[in-house]
Amino acid sequence: GWGQQKAAGDSPSPRQSVRKNLEFEPLSTTALILEHRPANLPAKPAEEAEKHQQQYEEMVAQAKKRELREAQKRKKQLEDRVKQEENIGNAALTWSQEILPNWTTMCSSKRVKELWWQGVPPSVRGRVWSLAIGNDLNITHELYDICLARAKERWNASSAPSTTTDTDTGDAGSSHADREASLELIKLDISRTFPSLCIFQKGGPYHDVLHSILGAYTCYRPDVGYVQGMSFIAAVLILNMHTADAFIAFANLLNKPCQMAFYRVDHSLMLTYFAAFEVFFEENLPKLFAHFKSNNLTPDIYLIDWIFTLYSKSLPLDVACRVWDVFCRDGEEFLFRTALGILRLYEDVLTHMDFIHNAQFLTRLPEHINAHTLFSSIAAVSMSCRNRKWTQVLHTLQKDPERASPVLKR
Ligand SMILES: *[C@@H]1O[C@H](CO)[C@@H](O)[C@H](O)[C@H]1NC(C)=O
Ligand SMILES: *[C@@H]1O[C@H](CO)[C@@H](O)[C@H](O)[C@H]1NC(C)=O
Ligand SMILES: *[C@@H]1O[C@H](CO)[C@@H](O)[C@H](O)[C@H]1NC(C)=O
Repeated sequence: GWGQQKAAGDSPSPRQSVRKNLEFEPLSTTALILEHRPANLPAKPAEEAEKHQQQYEEMVAQAKKRELREAQKRKKQLEDRVKQEENIGNAALTWSQEILPNWTTMCSSKRVKELWWQGVPPSVRGRVWSLAIGNDLNITHELYDICLARAKERWNASSAPSTTTDTDTGDAGSSHADREASLELIKLDISRTFPSLCIFQKGGPYHDVLHSILGAYTCYRPDVGYVQGMSFIAAVLILNMHTADAFIAFANLLNKPCQMAFYRVDHSLMLTYFAAFEVFFEENLPKLFAHFKSNNLTPDIYLIDWIFTLYSKSLPLDVACRVWDVFCRDGEEFLFRTALGILRLYEDVLTHMDFIHNAQFLTRLPEHINAHTLFSSIAAVSMSCRNRKWTQVLHTLQKDPERASPVLKR
């Protein structure tokens, strides 16, 4: 036990042993209680001495207990970490040897879905995301090269002395001025993308790749162009896959209905998403929902940033990747479920703050959110409201936004 552990140390130097004792035994207090009184004072009555002895023993027992508890806690943490690392290793093998080779048959099985929820191991994450996002747009690596070459021509043209004019463009819907503005925006956004990682900024190892993907996308979809927030999405993809694959995933991801609605700023569709979100918000967290309502805290205030960057700007990167994992599994619904998980996690704090503090809190979430805590909270969020699922609620609202939006009408 505790006493033996302490005694088993191999002959510590006197000073060390004093310090060790100090850690465990409250020496100064002990001395006061235990020491017999100076000879010139009357002797301690036996009863009092016994009481003091008892107090002392209790204190030592408490200290021992505390020490034991802490040692056990440390041991458990270490065991957990070892187990976690083993799990990640095992999961990586399962993903790469069993699931990925048999993707189409296995990806929707219950076992794979459960494993997926626990987080995709980083070593296979890019491949899993690519497969899950798919390539409905049939983009090839060659198409990426073509788009990139065009983007480079444009950059050359815009950095060259202004011999070009607005009329020399063959592309409909994107004037020279537009393109320059978008190039400037890309530059600005890249400089603000995960600045703490120092890999996307000018001179960093992934700066050119990020620039290339964003530039190629503006050539691929001039109708969408560059929208702020996109650089975070591209950056997360670049961290997990090769350039051309990252471009393919990027373009297909942005092509999903929810992302298109937000990136093209389709106001009415965005409102529909917010309204659907509020239906599940009220269902899951009625108290907080009422509090937000009475403070006029509307979902756009916090959801826009979360959806635009798929949480990669708001959550720690490892946690955001876990959100992306399940987003790839469950689709857009999971983005809103995550939002409810965050609100649920901080419900107590949020219920006691006013509009401005809530808005500040939600636009700048605590930095130390951990994946386990957040996912426990998300798991407790139900995405079923009076037997209607997310897609049903959304479709009802889309068909008849006036009538079917009890939340907005109230
Ligand atoms: C893939 O699935 C097929 C049929 O479902 C099965 O026969 C095969 O063993 C699986 N392969 C792997 C690597 O699990
Ligand atoms: C992609 O290819 C498939 C099969 O060849 C085709 O059915 C589909 O229309 C294509 N999609 C696009 C966006 O070109
Ligand atoms: C862009 O300009 C550089 C030098 O200024 C040149 O080497 C490169 O070939 C040009 N690229 C394109 C695509 O025009």
